[in-house]
Amino acid sequence: MATAIATTEQIGLDRHREHFLAFCSDTATQAVVDQVVSELMMSHAAIRKGGIKDAIKHLSEHRSPRLLIVDLDGSDLPLSDIDRLADVCEPGVTVVAIGERNDCGLFRDLLNHGVADYLVKPISPGLLQKTIGNVSDQAGPSKSANKLGRLVVTAGTRGGVGATTLATSIAWLAAEERRRRVALVDLDLQYGTVALSLDLEPSHGLREALENPNRIDSLFMERVLVQHSDRLFVLSAEESPDETLLLDFSAVELLLTELRTKFHYVFVDLPRTFNPCTQQALQNASELILVSDLSLAGMRDTMRLMSFLPNINASCNIMVVVNRCGEHRQGEMPRAEFEKGIGRKIDLVLPFDAKTVAAATNFGQPVASTKGPVADGLRDLTDRLCGRQAGAAMSAKGVWKRLINKI
Ligand SMILES: Nc1ncnc2c1ncn2[C@@H]1O[C@H](COP(=O)(O)OP(=O)(O)O)[C@@H](O)[C@H]1O
Ligand SMILES: [Mg+2]
Repeated sequence: MATAIATTEQIGLDRHREHFLAFCSDTATQAVVDQVVSELMMSHAAIRKGGIKDAIKHLSEHRSPRLLIVDLDGSDLPLSDIDRLADVCEPGVTVVAIGERNDCGLFRDLLNHGVADYLVKPISPGLLQKTIGNVSDQAGPSKSANKLGRLVVTAGTRGGVGATTLATSIAWLAAEERRRRVALVDLDLQYGTVALSLDLEPSHGLREALENPNRIDSLFMERVLVQHSDRLFVLSAEESPDETLLLDFSAVELLLTELRTKFHYVFVDLPRTFNPCTQQALQNASELILVSDLSLAGMRDTMRLMSFLPNINASCNIMVVVNRCGEHRQGEMPRAEFEKGIGRKIDLVLPFDAKTVAAATNFGQPVASTKGPVADGLRDLTDRLCGRQAGAAMSAKGVWKRLINKI
């Protein structure tokens, strides 16, 4: 017998999220899906008229369901449309495609592009029920359901260079301007300033998670994440500086993976000194943003971190950002000399702009929400991470240019 998909009422993180959503191009298919939804007594289910293009448009503006049925009829390039759909979907979505083409090659290609199953029209209620049961079965999750959000780690080569400023701003831009679901984690449990710089109350959730990894699950995450907006969630702590924290470092990977199943991006701000926690984050990172100033010590530590990372995570992409440039004009190394020292180009240079940055920081606002060269540079960095935006007119409609790097 087919299993009904998840029926538990969830709050918080999964609020406003349908369990099941179908896009059907024709009324006959729509009637079959409707019948199956009633027979399985699915809660939080919706059926909409339309094809894959309507699904892409809808999901670039709304939360993704856990199970999505999408009609490929009317699509000239079903595979590239499926890729575009994957770009806008949250991690963890299972996609079943339906269409008129009875074509083995297409079926195989769709599976390779992350679709869990493909049904040829006309679909029968029995077959659809069976398919829903199969793909909802934990034993065989599809590739798309296994997709993890990108893990972006920021680290400063020295204290005060602006790593936290960058992490909060890029996370904010990804959430507010790119409309991605973003989690921002401050791994400095005692001195971290992420919550402070976004004017949020830190919770003890991060400590709880790292002390008791067996408690990490969806409901736990819902309780401990502090919501900045409907798309930006923060996990941080403000533990007493004189306490010795007994943390289970292996919990970091578990925690980050749990978050990556729920968010398009997980940003992690590392503490200044390395410990086994930071090592776990770096081992799993998709991207490391190394922030430095143009000092000799900054150059040395950029070099050291760049040469250390490939030993633990060879596939991690490193971006080097120089911040606060121009603050000490006389003492700064010339850019060319810094680049020669680290053996590569700097990806981005952000100027020192005390007035704008301090005003934002002191009001608990992300610097990216201000105007000026620092905010422009942060947008540029977000472009490199999330792909360039298609333009203001399109973004206002919520239509995003395809991401350069897929999640
Ligand atoms: N480009 C900049 N111009 C001026 N001040 C900056 C700039 N970037 C960061 N700051 C300020 O520098 C201080 C340290 O920044 P922070 O992000 O906390 O550094 P880190 O996390 O590397 O220790 C903060 O007061 C922040 O407002
Ligand atoms: Mg910091």
